[in-house]
Amino acid sequence: AALVQTFAQKRHGHISQYRFNPKASCYKVAILGAAGGIGQPLSLLIKMSPLVSEINLYDIANVQEITADLSYCNTPAQVVGFTGSSELADSLKGVDVVVILAGVPPKPGMTWDDLFNTNASIVKSLIEAVADNCPEAFVHIITNPMNSMVPLAAEVLRQKGVYDPKKLFGVTTLDVVRANTFVARKKNLRLIDADVPVVGGHAGITILPLLSKTRPSVSFTNEEVEELTVRIQNAGTEVVEAKAGEGSATLSIAYAAARFVESSLRALDGDADVYECAYVESNLTELPFFASRVKLGKKGVEALIHSDLQRLTAYEAKALEALMPELKASIDKGVAFVQKQP
Ligand code: NAI
Repeated sequence: AALVQTFAQKRHGHISQYRFNPKASCYKVAILGAAGGIGQPLSLLIKMSPLVSEINLYDIANVQEITADLSYCNTPAQVVGFTGSSELADSLKGVDVVVILAGVPPKPGMTWDDLFNTNASIVKSLIEAVADNCPEAFVHIITNPMNSMVPLAAEVLRQKGVYDPKKLFGVTTLDVVRANTFVARKKNLRLIDADVPVVGGHAGITILPLLSKTRPSVSFTNEEVEELTVRIQNAGTEVVEAKAGEGSATLSIAYAAARFVESSLRALDGDADVYECAYVESNLTELPFFASRVKLGKKGVEALIHSDLQRLTAYEAKALEALMPELKASIDKGVAFVQKQP
């Protein structure tokens, strides 16, 4: 039996003979920008999830070959490919989680402003389609500059009358993954045990790892705090420079994004103990969007975890104050992009 089911086949009723077990897997995930550097490994990781019954792969090009390739993996999730804007709406129907990573990655020397100019209109049009076709879905934004893209998406959803702040997430999991890895190595912790909350945003100094809140509890010298903080903030640039024009991180963000999808699906599935850091609408600071640990539930964000922001060290308090103007400017830029459109 053919395992590949293209959108066209599905639309015309030629459903493949592949059947999944509905009891073992139940959620539908759409990946927008699936053919790119992150999209491909992310699709593979999501294909391995027992909680996923269908993965919709959407891109403007090259989706069908990935759909075919991925569908040979004998895991339950059915893979359906959608190419081009005429198939975008169908890629979103009935979806529980939408992951948006369409757009260009940064190249060496590119500023966040350069990146914004290219990616803002892409994200805006994809979110409009989300609003029209799956307004109830959890929306995960990965496209950079994320500090602006999430407020931009919120504004689009608000104008469409379907904004649910509990269901819109900027994926900052990679910052947490990096912080956990660097801290575990430095302090000889077991990788699986290290847990560092990262707050603020997802670019440069707006990324603030709260090392004092590391679990298990460890102490750092001032030099270690400075070194680790700067390393975590600049890890993205390290990869951009190492790839020398070929893009930014792909494998580690695919891993991180898959973890965030899995956490969202566990929350949707009723797991009462799901916590992740994410960049969301927030009242923890004076800024309308802020990354922090959140508790996830069936309806999205159930609670923002404010305790991490209490009893900050002097270094963390100063870094928090320093990041606010930059994060505010990025938020304003995302909102203004939508408001100035006719
Ligand atoms: P890539 O260039 O390899 O892939 C992007 C994909 O988006 C391509 O397949 C392209 O065809 C597709 N695309 C472009 N316009 C589209 C549209 N209108 N509709 C649907 N698909 C469209 O880029 P890569 O490396 O996968 O990065 C994607 C984004 O993720 C970038 O903005 C990058 O900065 C960001 N990123 C975010 C991270 C995070 O931690 N949040 C980490 C690393 C990258």
